[in-house]
Amino acid sequence: MATRNTWRTWRAGVFLAALTPLVVWGWQVANNAAGPEPGRYLLLNIGTGALWMLLLTLSLTPLTRLTRWKGFTLIRRQLGLWTLAYATLHMLSYALFILGLDWAMLGSELVKRPYIIVGMLALIGLAVLGATSNRWSMRRLGKRWKTLHRLAYPILGLVLLHFLWVVRADLGEWVMYAAIAALVMATRLPPVARTLPRIRYRLAGT
Ligand code: HEM
Repeated sequence: MATRNTWRTWRAGVFLAALTPLVVWGWQVANNAAGPEPGRYLLLNIGTGALWMLLLTLSLTPLTRLTRWKGFTLIRRQLGLWTLAYATLHMLSYALFILGLDWAMLGSELVKRPYIIVGMLALIGLAVLGATSNRWSMRRLGKRWKTLHRLAYPILGLVLLHFLWVVRADLGEWVMYAAIAALVMATRLPPVARTLPRIRYRLAGT
């Protein structure tokens, strides 16, 4: 039987696991171990990290249905906020290392690289979800809270479009993320969602 301390340790472990890549990348940049373009290195790694965080967050509900393990539900908000933190740091690395904080350049950048607009929309969506992820918003919004938080799926679509626009020719990595996203999204379809507890019973019976 898991105690309150077990869950606290689990949450702290997840926190450390989410923080570690940022510390490692920061350390690499500080020690000239991040290649010839450290700013771009941070931008791309943190962007990919944000996508991983989003995919992990969205996997938690199907994993709970499949296993009934409470631990997955307990870290849902935490991972959602980590997604927002990574996405914000990704945007900040763009502003700092690519734009050089030259905001006058932003207009021409948006014309040259429209995928940035798509990324911005995704980030705004994540910020709305992060701001309403607390108990107070849940109580205030009632049933509408769930509907609002389903926005995570169109946001995932926007992120994949943003990524696709960036990679264009080299599709291999993108296809892998798109396949994972398709799998996660498929688990929300009612017939598939109904099957998950049945798989659990079948596995428990074997
Ligand atoms: C204001 C918002 C955003 C801006 C300005 C932005 C900007 C960028 C830029 C400039 C690139 C790299 C393009 C290049 O190769 O030169 C990029 C790549 C990427 N971004 Fe964003 N982005 C934003 C939001 C997001 C969000 C919200 C996510 C995910 C949750 C995300 C995930 C990615 C991914 C996965 C890549 C590709 C990384 C790779 O090629 O390894 N971005 N973004």
